[in-house]
Amino acid sequence: MNCLLLYSSRDGQTKKIITCIAENLRRAGEVCDLKELATVERVNWESYDKVMIGASIRYGHFNPVLKKFAICHQQQLNKMPTAFFGVNLTARKPEKCTPETNVYVRKFLLNTPWKPDLCGVFAGALLYPRYHWLDRVMVKLIMKMTGGETDTTKEIEYTDWQRVARFADDFLRVSNEK
Ligand SMILES: Cc1cc2nc3c(=O)[nH]c(=O)nc-3n(C[C@H](O)[C@H](O)[C@H](O)COP(=O)(O)O)c2cc1C
Repeated sequence: MNCLLLYSSRDGQTKKIITCIAENLRRAGEVCDLKELATVERVNWESYDKVMIGASIRYGHFNPVLKKFAICHQQQLNKMPTAFFGVNLTARKPEKCTPETNVYVRKFLLNTPWKPDLCGVFAGALLYPRYHWLDRVMVKLIMKMTGGETDTTKEIEYTDWQRVARFADDFLRVSNEK
């Protein structure tokens, strides 16, 4: 099976997650093409059996290229097995880490004509020292308001890699069932 894996990542965590998924899929015998969503101009849909897209949240929003891509390619996407996952820091809280309970993913799924067969949410990374100073101040404020880490010398990865591996397994099954 040939998989197209697309990502939209600002600081690299979504790329890290989808790269891990690609490794798991390859170990299971799948052929994976991994590409940055913003650089994709045309997709040769006939070359692929299934598609996964992962995207991160910044200041409450996914990169607009996600919405654009989903609208533009809804017919192709809805015809084949597909998966979507979102990455954000809100998902570090267990009660906000499912597609139903994570506000960003829930809203995206409600408003897009693309209906992925499999949806996921992963907690991202908090990388204070690497942020531009203004982003550092803003993220610290968000973290303070939500009861999170406010020590700006810290880098914390909240991603649950076992859940990521399970998502890759689920994607294999989704493809086979369709
Ligand atoms: C400037 C900035 C704004 C962010 N805004 C939000 C936000 O509104 N809600 C949230 O849950 N996470 C927010 N995050 C956390 C990111 O979603 C998280 O760091 C994620 O790992 C980023 O993934 P990426 O490296 O693939 O872009 C923000 C992070 C940064 C740096």
